[in-house]
Amino acid sequence: MKVIKRLRVPVGVVFGVIATVLVGCASFSSQPKYTAEQVMEQGFKGDDSLIKKVTQGKGTQDDFKRLSELVNELAKNKPTKGDMASWKEKTSALSAAAKNLVQGTPGALDSLKAASNCKACHSVHKPS
Ligand code: HEC
Repeated sequence: MKVIKRLRVPVGVVFGVIATVLVGCASFSSQPKYTAEQVMEQGFKGDDSLIKKVTQGKGTQDDFKRLSELVNELAKNKPTKGDMASWKEKTSALSAAAKNLVQGTPGALDSLKAASNCKACHSVHKPS
């Protein structure tokens, strides 16, 4: 009896830890926070978009971080059109460039300009 009583607390703790880990895993799963459409609307669409501001060299550190978050979410999406290999290549180039920009790596802005080519991606992956 004594042994069982003693065990109760540790068992509760263990379950608590397992539950925390499971919840943590769920939020780290491949489920993107934003759809490709949302990423485009929040970061790419229009003349005053975040991507324009940043590629014109007017971005702040906060802009870089926000852009990095958006393109990371874009990369977690599956393309509704075009093949996965091409999507992976394009979105990971975007993610890498945005990350480098956040970290202040030289040349990051140029790689971002190349990776954010609207037409190059849309012609393959944007459903008409
Ligand atoms: C790496 C790929 C990629 C790049 C780069 C990209 N887009 Fe997109 N864009 C997409 C995809 C995919 C869609 C279709 C989303 C959907 O409807 O599912 C889209 C859709 C859009 C839409 C329509 C969103 C809506 O409301 O339905 C706009 C506007 C847009 N992009 C603007 C831009 C602009 C401007 C640029 C360049 C500065 C750009 N995109 C660069 C992938 C990209």
